[in-house]
Amino acid sequence: MTGRNARRSRRTVWTALVTLLGLVAVACARNAPQDTLSPVGPIARQEDHLFRPVFWIAVAVFVLVEGLLVVALIKFRQRSAADAPKQTHGNQRLEILWTIIPAMLLAGIAIPTVLTIWDVAAKPVGSNVVNVKVTAHQWWWEYEYTDQKIQGGGNLKTANELVIPTGRWVYLTMTSADVIHSYWVPKLAGKQDVIPGRITHLKLRSNDPGVFRGQCAEFCALSHANMRLRVIAYPEQQFDDWLAREMGPASANPPPANAAGFGLVASPLQGGNTCFSCHTIRGHPGSAGSAVGPDLTHFASRTSFAGSMFDLAPEELGRTNLYNWLENPPGVKPGSIMPDYNLTDEQIDALVAYLMTLK
Ligand code: CUA
Repeated sequence: MTGRNARRSRRTVWTALVTLLGLVAVACARNAPQDTLSPVGPIARQEDHLFRPVFWIAVAVFVLVEGLLVVALIKFRQRSAADAPKQTHGNQRLEILWTIIPAMLLAGIAIPTVLTIWDVAAKPVGSNVVNVKVTAHQWWWEYEYTDQKIQGGGNLKTANELVIPTGRWVYLTMTSADVIHSYWVPKLAGKQDVIPGRITHLKLRSNDPGVFRGQCAEFCALSHANMRLRVIAYPEQQFDDWLAREMGPASANPPPANAAGFGLVASPLQGGNTCFSCHTIRGHPGSAGSAVGPDLTHFASRTSFAGSMFDLAPEELGRTNLYNWLENPPGVKPGSIMPDYNLTDEQIDALVAYLMTLK
């Protein structure tokens, strides 16, 4: 090897090592709320229990096959022009062996795989199953608690954050209002496509309280990466309290301090739309039940908004996420269907003040 070649190959080795080290380091994130390898719910655990043995079997096969290949490449390489290896063709015994062993391996893996698929897909039974209809929209999630009938008709509706009780099965019945999306909460369950014109199901459960982050896992145009979600698991009593609050309408008469925002949501904005052209605030006399955008009846009870892209602070004052959103929705979330209404600072402040009363 010449000096230059040696230097070049040393450089290649170093580059490879540094790249590998970088990849290993980024795998060590401490705060990884969407880590599939640390499952919480029983469904995610069951899937993890299937994944782990299959993964190690695959590792063993990889090491064995690639190891034999490397040994063969080195041991039987051509050392000089006169040293051509002995040429052979075919080996029936070996060929039968390397057909039978993988076939048996795959058949062995198929048994727990199929059993898990059936188990995960089975509809949960019992009187305490929580049924939720999920409708995916570009780029947010609509939830309808189909067991909860609100006064005046229809089901209880929320958006982006799925609130569930601990220790009970939650059965999602899903469809899409536009394109294909995919519902994914890594710590609770695997992905499930959500398809327009079709119904798919997903079963979830968490035995522990907590907030589980998720996101759309199927490319669905511009703000796909901003189509996030949260599953919030409350202990039974806290869930019942939440449900009781959500079932009620928003106050029809907000404190006088928020009267400006109360009036503004029903007033025509630039282009003639009002907030109620797309949103619903049950209890507000101007609300007409539109379901184009998220139901805002208990907006301030949520911890995030706009497809869970932005955190909603309990006291939204000043130039906060909500302020920035109302100022120019497509400016902070590309492709947002809610347009920029060119609201004045006073109008935005009034809207924020009113929306934050919707607990
Ligand atoms: Cu919805 Cu990606």
